Amino acid sequence: SKAKVFITRRLPVELKQLQEVATVEVWTERQPPPYDVLLEKVKTIDGLLCLLTDKIDSPLIAGNLKVISQVAVGYDNIDVAAASKRKIPVGHTPGVLTDATADFAWALLMAAARRVMEADKFTRAGLWQTWEPDLLLGPNITGATLGIVGFGRIGQAVARRAKGFDMRILYTSRYQWEPELEKSLGVEFAPFEQLLQESDFVTVHTPGTDDTYHLFSDRQFNLMKPEAILINTARGTVVDPDALYRALASGKIAAAAVDVTEPEPIPQDSPLLTLDNLIITPHIGSASRQTRSKMAKMAIANLIAGLKGHQLPYCVNPEIYTDD
Ligand code: GLV
Ligand code: GLV
Repeated sequence: SKAKVFITRRLPVELKQLQEVATVEVWTERQPPPYDVLLEKVKTIDGLLCLLTDKIDSPLIAGNLKVISQVAVGYDNIDVAAASKRKIPVGHTPGVLTDATADFAWALLMAAARRVMEADKFTRAGLWQTWEPDLLLGPNITGATLGIVGFGRIGQAVARRAKGFDMRILYTSRYQWEPELEKSLGVEFAPFEQLLQESDFVTVHTPGTDDTYHLFSDRQFNLMKPEAILINTARGTVVDPDALYRALASGKIAAAAVDVTEPEPIPQDSPLLTLDNLIITPHIGSASRQTRSKMAKMAIANLIAGLKGHQLPYCVNPEIYTDD
């Protein structure tokens, strides 16, 4: 009999190819399926196609499940260890969203520096009455120091774009890259604290893991320059939201722009929403039409490979194929 798959949301992609190998059920609501629904579904399905809004914990990694395919590069919502234990491959979508996400980090950086959101509000409020020499001033971007925290594909793509702005580019990551790569990107390795002290812009490109949980808290904001601007397009958990509020409200740093929050979505009573020097967008870093379509296609390809018992083209836990 045909394999069964459950897709936790409508995707911008043709399902025909998948339907040839599996019976497909799509959750069509705007909100993610409740946990109970997922718990019921996994009893009967062979493949699960999920999003970062679905918490896939070990009770869900059960039944006949043969593959979990996530439509995202990050997979902090999935208990990968539990999947590996049961030899279930987990797929993700690296590479295809690198440029879109780097572009969006730049959109936020420039909007925060040059106060685009405040300026738009100002104009709509009818406050534009003349040209003013000191209206809505911000820092220079060209020639400033950019600190990139996390130097994987996306961090490096952000660095490539920074070259056009004649910036000094610092990066920190778990290990230092080869000198050739540093040279070609025009970047210097800096320990995290030095990067915080010297950067005018700090942009986060780490995954959300136990190691990066609240990497930014009071201590780190205290090290940053008062004119510094923080950009986060990675994971909300990397920044302690209470510390971010304190830093922005007290002027420890000048501004921030975040596409990710902890929790998501941001609660409507969060004090962060009262700040003028913070831009918050709803986790849309990868949201170009082309990129979202590529992500969906890649996730489907991973899913089909898993259903056929083939190695996933983009697998998070490939060790399951070799370990005994
Ligand atoms: C989005 O946040 C992703 O991980 O793809
Ligand atoms: C994500 O794709 C990264 O490695 O930065």
